Amino acid sequence: MSDGESERTFVMVKPDGVNRGLVGTVISRFEDRGLKLVGAKFIQMEDDLAQEHYGEHEGKPFFDGLVEFITSGPVMAMVWEGQDATRQVRRMMGATDPAESAPGTIRGDLGLDLGRNVIHGSDHEDPGANEREINLFFDETELVDWNRADEDWLYE
Ligand code: RTP
Ligand code: MG
Repeated sequence: MSDGESERTFVMVKPDGVNRGLVGTVISRFEDRGLKLVGAKFIQMEDDLAQEHYGEHEGKPFFDGLVEFITSGPVMAMVWEGQDATRQVRRMMGATDPAESAPGTIRGDLGLDLGRNVIHGSDHEDPGANEREINLFFDETELVDWNRADEDWLYE
């Protein structure tokens, strides 16, 4: 790998994405881009975990609805690794509101409504977010160190 740092980022398909059968589509987008899946967990989030995960939004008018929604069905929690992974995942996700997300992004192609935006990714502008969220959902032993067979073709 010649440019930039390889890093791990936390990503989650939300209950709307799971119920709409979009888990495979979301995984394919990241796989096709060249990112590497190093952890995955299909879970039903408990209220405590949801409150902690979205703790930065506590007190905001949409907080209770957000926690209710994220605990309303299963989620696919994942860790993806690659060069500049956090920022690249956020770029691929699109803007928070699917109505404002560019076509070609996950939210811009797969969603219409702010409160049902299919996917969560760690905030790349918050330097602690990745590590905090990965540790919240995964033990170190649940993350796999491996090389994609095409890694030499993905990086100069
Ligand atoms: P996320 O954390 O879910 O990946 O989304 P994000 O970083 O793009 O957006 P964030 O500001 O962290 O907001 C978290 C989720 O809360 C809902 N939201 N509702 N009604 C509102 O004004 C409002 N603002 C945010 C969205 O579903 C957003 O994904
Ligand atoms: Mg956020």
